[in-house]
Amino acid sequence: MKHLAQLDRPALIDRLAERLVFERLAVELYEAAILRINASADVLVRRAAPTLARIRFEEHEHASWLERALAGAGASPSVETPRSALARIETEGIARVVRDARAPLGHVVQALLAAELVDHAGWHALLDLADEAEDDDAHEQLRRRLDEESTHLHAIRTIERALGRREFLGLETDVTRKAA
Ligand SMILES: [Fe+2]
Ligand SMILES: [Fe+2]
Repeated sequence: MKHLAQLDRPALIDRLAERLVFERLAVELYEAAILRINASADVLVRRAAPTLARIRFEEHEHASWLERALAGAGASPSVETPRSALARIETEGIARVVRDARAPLGHVVQALLAAELVDHAGWHALLDLADEAEDDDAHEQLRRRLDEESTHLHAIRTIERALGRREFLGLETDVTRKAA
């Protein structure tokens, strides 16, 4: 991420720290969701458990990558910046839903969807900045993570839609077939 760092190192650190708040939260969200789903008798969501486990693994990798990128930019992985503080405020509600053991699973899925939508947009924005800065090295690394975020979004949308189809139309969806 040399070009981006050369352009504005504090701004790069601010963006990376923002994403790191989301990625750490994502790991926590998926861990909580997997526990809830494994304890559930609902076949629809139980089928999604292996997909969620894979996503959790990738979110953990994203957090590790961001920690390394922050270190490369000369910042601590625990650095607090204006955008990391903003991300903490933004994610408070999502975290509350997933930590609430009484929240319906449909609400947990909705909270995951909200997190993934923002996460996807965040990685996309970083990739756009890298492209504008002609930072080829950053492009490669960001592209890979954004592609993974696209599969997360697709998977969570599939589960959310399946719950909606059941609720409104009484139709059962096999989410293992729809979620790539
Ligand atoms: Fe992620
Ligand atoms: Fe994600």
